[in-house]
Amino acid sequence: MSVLDRLTSQQAIELEEKHGAHNYHPLPVVLRKGEGVHVWDLEGNHYYDFLSAYSAVNQGHCHPRIVYALTEQAHKLTLTSRAFHNDVLGEYEKFITNLFGYDKVLPMNTGVEGGETAIKLCRKWAYKVKGIEQNKAKILFAENNFWGRTLAAVSSSTDPSAYSDYGPYLPGFEIVKYNDLQALEKALEDPNVAGFMVEPIQGEAGVVVPDDGYLKKAYDLCKSKNVLFIADEVQTGISRTGKLYCCQHEGVKPDILILGKALSGGVFPVSAVLADDEIMLTIKPGEHGSTFGGNPLACKVAVAALEVAVEENLADNAQKLGEIFRRELQDFAKQYDIIRTVRGKGLLNAVVINDPEHSNIAWEICLRLRDNGLLAKPTHGNIIRFAPPLVMTEEELMECVNIIKNTIQEFQPKSLAYEK
Ligand SMILES: Cc1ncc(COP(=O)(O)O)c(C=O)c1O
Repeated sequence: MSVLDRLTSQQAIELEEKHGAHNYHPLPVVLRKGEGVHVWDLEGNHYYDFLSAYSAVNQGHCHPRIVYALTEQAHKLTLTSRAFHNDVLGEYEKFITNLFGYDKVLPMNTGVEGGETAIKLCRKWAYKVKGIEQNKAKILFAENNFWGRTLAAVSSSTDPSAYSDYGPYLPGFEIVKYNDLQALEKALEDPNVAGFMVEPIQGEAGVVVPDDGYLKKAYDLCKSKNVLFIADEVQTGISRTGKLYCCQHEGVKPDILILGKALSGGVFPVSAVLADDEIMLTIKPGEHGSTFGGNPLACKVAVAALEVAVEENLADNAQKLGEIFRRELQDFAKQYDIIRTVRGKGLLNAVVINDPEHSNIAWEICLRLRDNGLLAKPTHGNIIRFAPPLVMTEEELMECVNIIKNTIQEFQPKSLAYEK
């Protein structure tokens, strides 16, 4: 028995506080075990997971098929680097490109590396194919985007907590308002624009869903100006919103598609950038890469994770349960003023809490949800994201809906409890 097996939750939290950097503010709960939609803490308390590691465990915690793929391959070969070939990379590349309908894939590890790769590809394409003058290429990003923490990502961020004190920033990035086609059209008038990188739903911004038709029209505008439409589906991809990837809701096939998170079922970092040859083959040997990108473990795990998503019909389940979730909470919100809005797609949803005094009610609600056996986390102060693993059953969802309603009800000031 290691010392870690004897820790209490309080001790585990104190260890992190003392020895770890303070770059996160977790909900005070220490998890030891996960299975499907369930997680348990060190004291054996059970919770429903309504964050899914920011949509990385769409297939549920420790999915047996994914864990089997991981452990079986771990006994054979884990890493060769790309200095040599390995016997699983090609199979994986064939599988993922067929599934998503692209000529080529470029394997990376984290989501943010996927974003970096997409931007580098877009710039290469701008100079080699579109013919933009060297160092003049511009990439448009949507306001309130989030795609990670690297210097390129924070250089395109509009969130002061992401970019402050990290300057100087990377040039060549421009911001357009999200869900604003006029703003996009205007920005696209600049002939040096090479790409528009966008989340089909802005996850970290608080599950902001654009108007129906926005993605398709944005894609068409980009096409009319020979600009690459780059979809960051790191959070929305792999069935989360009710389709294999979210742009499919509007029949859009992005020029560059970025996947991560649930591409591995959450067992370790795997990301991928998909594009057709005209774009992908602009990068030549030695011009981009990663020691771990395309490692045999990642390849086996990603195939298993994608097979689970497809064969277990996770997209359909997300679509069906998402509709129930929003209907239940929207009806509830009609009677309880404390909820301002309920929004989302599939099983990527958010409840916006009415908190005009900024008194941190959402955080308090999440603490109480934890006490009542459900884990969720606020974002931007008053928005609570609800994104359970997609393997949830309708019965489990209804149990969770009741936990959420009963908990939120406790925070409704009596004077506000009236029919809206
Ligand atoms: C839309 C989106 N893109 C990219 C990322 C970055 O992924 P990672 O944290 O794996 O680098 C995130 C992370 O939350 C994300 O939500």
